[in-house]
Amino acid sequence: MASDTPRTDEPDPNAVVDRYEQQLDDLLAEVDEPTPRADDSITLELAGLELSRRDLMKAGGTVGLATGLAGCSTWVGGGGSRQPTSSSNDGQTPAHTVPPGELDEYYGFWSGGHSGEIRVVGIPSMRELMRIPVFNTEGARGYGHDDTTSELLAEGGGYSWGDNHHPALSETGGDYDGEYLFVNDKANGRIARVDLTYFETDAILDVPNVQAVHGFCVQSPDTEYLFGNGEFRTPLPNDGRALDSPDEYASLFTAVDPESMSVEWQVRVDGNLDIVDTDKDGRWAIASAYNSEEATDVQGMTHDDRDFVKAFDVPRIQQAVDAGNYEEINGVPVVDGRRDSPLNQSDTPIVRYIPTPKSPHCVEVGPNGDYAFVAGKLSPTVTMLDIAALDTSSDPDDVVAGRPKVGLGPLHTTFDGNGHAYTSLFIDSQVAKWDIQAAVEADTNSTEPILEKYDVHYNPGHIQALEAMTTDPAGEWLVSLNKLSKDRFLDVGPIHPDNDQLFHIGQGEKSMELVADHPAYPEPHDCVFAHRDKLSPAKTWDPSDYKGDKPFVTPADSGVERTGERSVHVRASAMRSEYGIPDFQVKEGDEVTLTLTNIEEVPDIIHGAAIPAHDINLAVAPQDTRQATFTADEPGVYWVYCTYFCSALHLEMRSRMLVEPRE
Ligand code: CUA
Repeated sequence: MASDTPRTDEPDPNAVVDRYEQQLDDLLAEVDEPTPRADDSITLELAGLELSRRDLMKAGGTVGLATGLAGCSTWVGGGGSRQPTSSSNDGQTPAHTVPPGELDEYYGFWSGGHSGEIRVVGIPSMRELMRIPVFNTEGARGYGHDDTTSELLAEGGGYSWGDNHHPALSETGGDYDGEYLFVNDKANGRIARVDLTYFETDAILDVPNVQAVHGFCVQSPDTEYLFGNGEFRTPLPNDGRALDSPDEYASLFTAVDPESMSVEWQVRVDGNLDIVDTDKDGRWAIASAYNSEEATDVQGMTHDDRDFVKAFDVPRIQQAVDAGNYEEINGVPVVDGRRDSPLNQSDTPIVRYIPTPKSPHCVEVGPNGDYAFVAGKLSPTVTMLDIAALDTSSDPDDVVAGRPKVGLGPLHTTFDGNGHAYTSLFIDSQVAKWDIQAAVEADTNSTEPILEKYDVHYNPGHIQALEAMTTDPAGEWLVSLNKLSKDRFLDVGPIHPDNDQLFHIGQGEKSMELVADHPAYPEPHDCVFAHRDKLSPAKTWDPSDYKGDKPFVTPADSGVERTGERSVHVRASAMRSEYGIPDFQVKEGDEVTLTLTNIEEVPDIIHGAAIPAHDINLAVAPQDTRQATFTADEPGVYWVYCTYFCSALHLEMRSRMLVEPRE
């Protein structure tokens, strides 16, 4: 083949890729060496001495011994810089299991990744309590099967799936108010809202002018805006212009009104945007970014040693919008936040660009709002930004408050409220616990602030400690959302579950304790926790909360009403163990609207209604009404049956739809 290739002095792009992949393989080969487990099941064999990890932990003062062993045993997996696990929680770890009949103390909300759903998980038991369909359809919840939710999905773009990444709880005064959960769809550039009274999705916004909303957060301390980061740069507007001119592509930062779920404004930036968080004063939104090169391939995107965090001055952007300093694109005011825009050339730039190493991933703002923590991804450091200095100093160097060296592949940082930060290390497959104040006082690249490293299994992305996104984290438990589970569970074919690992985190410096592995269906990205007292879920529906114009159908209201030459309205109540009408007759070709009210007042008695041949399954909670509209296009007899096991006569809970041939 080589002899057929014309000689050229141009570098061969394939060779660049090969070299890059070889480097990556070398790195990963080191990482893929066996990683010790933090339990008794893996032992160290050293000079005939068989010591379990627990033995090492139990022996007080053996941390130094363990460190010494690490240097010459298979404990060292990545680059020789690793420390062994050195958990010693003084036997203070409480049981994470919740006895039968008792309740978890915290709600966890997991994003479901490309399943498109939110999962509700109890903490500390890690029991999955419920799933909330958001961007996906779901028969068990009747979501995408009744008129209201079908319209919601259609208005949200009509896609059949989403890639949901970052769940965020609405805040009032810096704490969760229990009203809403919001989440982004990276795939289709959408943002959805879940009503936490009913644990149901009630709004989906298809964000204009962006492909991929990746970073997403709510504004602190009060959720007056939702912020979404457009990750993939595209022409603006993306209408066929500038197809192969990447230097003309744009990434946009989007502000959304959480009540109306409509876009307020967008800001165009240089480079791209990745993760975002806000300060605790309603002033700054701080976004990481990894492609300042504005390249379209991996070697181009990772070429430079510096990228730029973008800090958005929200009140000043609002002023620019109010003053008409924007271009309207697809109905949205788009403000120019590029470095050379007039709005950024003034003494009070609307977007500040802070150089940060290298292709950084996360931004998380600490609980007291002093610092934003930017994990280096391709740099083994976390850069701490002094948020107050964003306003007081024009020198980007003054904004950097600290830069500890935490380990390989830092992605996300979480907080326990006791002055500690915990950073996930994707390549090292570890979590690094470190001292925030010590990192401010230490030199750049110092490892001295590191208190403890703990192996996780394997390759963590997000980590979250309890209520870490509030101004008053609860500490105690931390979840590491590990992308790979490899050997931790029974094999289930080549696609493995993720592994969500629960840690107890105590008050002390070395206090992490792994307590449980939990397989997670592919693939959660992030989670957020709220104490159960902060939520007030309804036990039954309040008909005044119905979405849309739906009646409450009593047994007396049940019946068939012909509403037009080719339309009928069937109304039916549902209670144990019968529908309000045992059968109903329509004509071939009729548009049938079935309105079903569950008149039960007893919590947890759900009635369903499967309408075979029309792809419909309603799930109707007590006091709720659902509606489905379809065309009865084939004559015949069709049983409508209850799909929720509601009583001993559940199988008998049926109605017949008789579709009479039209002459
Ligand atoms: Cu109603 Cu089963």
